[in-house]
Amino acid sequence: MLGSESGKKAAAIAALEFVEDDTVIGVGTGSTVNLFIEALAAQRRRLRGAVSSSNATSKRLAAAGIEVLDLNSTGTLEVYVDGADETDAHRRLVKGGGGALTREKIVAAASRKFVCIVDESKLVDVLGKFPLPVEVIPMARSYVARQLVALGGQPVWREQFVTDNGNHVLDVHGLRIIDPPALEAQIESIVGVVAAGLFARRSADAVLIGTAAGVKRL
Ligand code: 5RP
Repeated sequence: MLGSESGKKAAAIAALEFVEDDTVIGVGTGSTVNLFIEALAAQRRRLRGAVSSSNATSKRLAAAGIEVLDLNSTGTLEVYVDGADETDAHRRLVKGGGGALTREKIVAAASRKFVCIVDESKLVDVLGKFPLPVEVIPMARSYVARQLVALGGQPVWREQFVTDNGNHVLDVHGLRIIDPPALEAQIESIVGVVAAGLFARRSADAVLIGTAAGVKRL
């Protein structure tokens, strides 16, 4: 197996091919995306700008000389590039390890194409080994946690962490996610949930996996 850092880098560089000249792109959050931003910096003049999924990514984009634009002023984006905590063979994802899941979901929804970049450790048969992040309105945290227990999960409050939207995150352990779109809908229908880190109803259009044998595409 290729080291996770080299796998991430290979996938990040491969994603550059999806970036068309003179477009605005969406950029996700995390260590794999940071490598993508590094690679993109050298080609920044090709871009009109980027819509960011987190304050951390906005800072990195600005430092790389890439203009950060407001999604409300850009319209539909051509492509969104982001990492994931898990992917299955159907390109359905668990995301939100970095806590940016809601904005990531918004930018993914507003993009024509979602390209996910991962190292091979992220490919799983069944989603759910990685605890599923759920962003909640702070006053609803305990209520939502009880509903998640009723769904068979063990939610753990990510203490000392507040999202860019001022909310809390519950990491739900112990789920074996056999039907990702159904669970995503079920969790997102609980009052007080802002978003679940399941990207199944809007899955990735391509997953680029950095492996020892090169970059594989799902
Ligand atoms: C952040 C995310 C990231 O995409 C996910 O956590 C993967 O991160 P990394 O590239 O550092 O492994 O969803 O909210």
